[in-house]
Amino acid sequence: MCGIIACVGSDDAVGELLTGLENLEYRGYDSAGIAVQNGNNIAVRKKAGKISELKETIASDVPNGSVGIGHTRWSTHGPPTDANAHPHTSQTGRVVVVHNGIIENYESIRSQLEAEGYEFKSETDTEVIPHLVEHHLDKGMDVEQAFKTAVDELDGSYAVALMVDGEDKVYAARQDSPLVVGVDDEAGRFYLASDVPAFLDFTDEVIYIEDGDFVEVSPGSLVLTDREGNVVERDVEEVEWNAEETGKGQYDHYMLKEINEQADSLSNTLGGRITDDGDVSLEEFPPGTFEDVDHVEFIACGTSYHAALYGATQLQRSGVRATATIASEYDTSTVTENTLTIAVTQSGETADTISALRAAQDAGAETVAVTNVVGSSAAREADHALYIRAGPEIGVAATKTFSSQVATLTLLAHRLSQDLEQGTPREDNEEFFSELEKLPEYINEVLATSTAEAVGEKYLDKESYFFIGRDNEYPVALEGALKFKEITYEHAEGFASGELKHGPLALVTPKSVVFSLFTGENGEKTRKNAEEAHTRGADIVAITDDAESVHEFADTVLHIPETHPDIAGLLANVQLQLVSYYTADMLDREIDKPRNLAKSVTVE
Ligand code: AGP
Repeated sequence: MCGIIACVGSDDAVGELLTGLENLEYRGYDSAGIAVQNGNNIAVRKKAGKISELKETIASDVPNGSVGIGHTRWSTHGPPTDANAHPHTSQTGRVVVVHNGIIENYESIRSQLEAEGYEFKSETDTEVIPHLVEHHLDKGMDVEQAFKTAVDELDGSYAVALMVDGEDKVYAARQDSPLVVGVDDEAGRFYLASDVPAFLDFTDEVIYIEDGDFVEVSPGSLVLTDREGNVVERDVEEVEWNAEETGKGQYDHYMLKEINEQADSLSNTLGGRITDDGDVSLEEFPPGTFEDVDHVEFIACGTSYHAALYGATQLQRSGVRATATIASEYDTSTVTENTLTIAVTQSGETADTISALRAAQDAGAETVAVTNVVGSSAAREADHALYIRAGPEIGVAATKTFSSQVATLTLLAHRLSQDLEQGTPREDNEEFFSELEKLPEYINEVLATSTAEAVGEKYLDKESYFFIGRDNEYPVALEGALKFKEITYEHAEGFASGELKHGPLALVTPKSVVFSLFTGENGEKTRKNAEEAHTRGADIVAITDDAESVHEFADTVLHIPETHPDIAGLLANVQLQLVSYYTADMLDREIDKPRNLAKSVTVE
């Protein structure tokens, strides 16, 4: 999973490509490269390592030109080396390509081309594309034909941008990988990229490219066609986000910025969706939308799975048959035409979730994508899309999107409990929804008063970090542990409190710390589990709105404001995000780009 960019008609192609790649670096950062048409030939510069290292190699000899393509990589085929870095070129160098995705049939294409004398310079799947295009050009096809024919022969996922020697033009196509076009009509300038932040410094006019679309861009001209060459129309949409929003502002890391943005993002999420009389209003799903549904299943990965688990717990509580499944473990055996499958995915591009969504769809389920990215694959492929409106999230570790996902699923759960025969909508509507609307305020209170940094410092030398909770605290315990693992690289695990004594308690020693959630209605039971760990020498950090109730066994308290037990978990989660952040900062970790991870994982 990588980031691609192209610019056409630019006064400073190299500058704009490098800026774009920096804005895309959260998509992959193990090698990078650019290629620029500079009249005589195509100048290619690429390097293993971060964008900063590529900049150094270019500084001494900057190619000039107004048309170029660029790439930042997250290896899937071939380790991060200069040779495997993109762009990749054809035998003669006249065809140059950048690609995001996976060409599943690359080996058979490669051996076919090698048999015809084409020599490959890298171990990547991508390199088959420029050779294939040159192969068709050699047979007399024009560039458009050669490109479309080559793309036809590819199986798998791709967002690919291509340049041919001597043409001030970029060709592109997409299948199951994101591709957007940036339009600067006034200047007759265009951009192509895997994601909007790549060119938000230059334009906020965007066209979302669909699977099967072909793009041909030259200065002043943008043509979208389908495989047969018919022109296709796509709307130009204005992006509400501005470049500043995708910058870190006064924070050291995007993660801390996004943790502190949670009150605003949650207000956006809830805005206009709770009525004055304490009911839910979802324009996407008017009352009665889901009458025929008798089983609701959530599919998701990572943090989104934890949000899905939270949503399923809420729905089960209202009497609705609801399950949450890790997308890569999903199967359709229980799917019927009365099944509603809800794919929860921040990026809308996670391959495991997308393929589970397709499987559910093929099995006859009605599908909903709950996502943060308008125009993403999940949003376009599902029968319905419901946006969490959290704004761009750059840090690899999901933070504000978790709160917005849980809030959105809470609203959706209420709608379903009203629509579904088996559902019993909650009785405490007014109190619950007025507390939900106050959540942004409570979050700001947590952010303003949190002692998480001191807690992180106090337990910096511990060997294992456990997170426990019951009922809808359990997904928060799992989420707390995931955040901690992701950015501190320390041993951390989340458990249902009651499970400790069935095995994990063996891991608890005086070198452990146990973060215990006391936000729900089962405080007494969780207390016993925390005390079991305390007697084995572990330090207990209690997250609660009532310090008095835990003083006998808790070594440390992280305070949260009092609110409805069904949403207090989200306040506790902010405390846990901060503990993870400060611990990782004290351990000098790469917080926004943790090792071995990426923001959206578009490979299965
Ligand atoms: C969370 O911090 C991680 N980045 C990861 O677990 C993520 O939640 C998972 O890859 C799912 O991503 P999605 O929400 O974009 O589908």
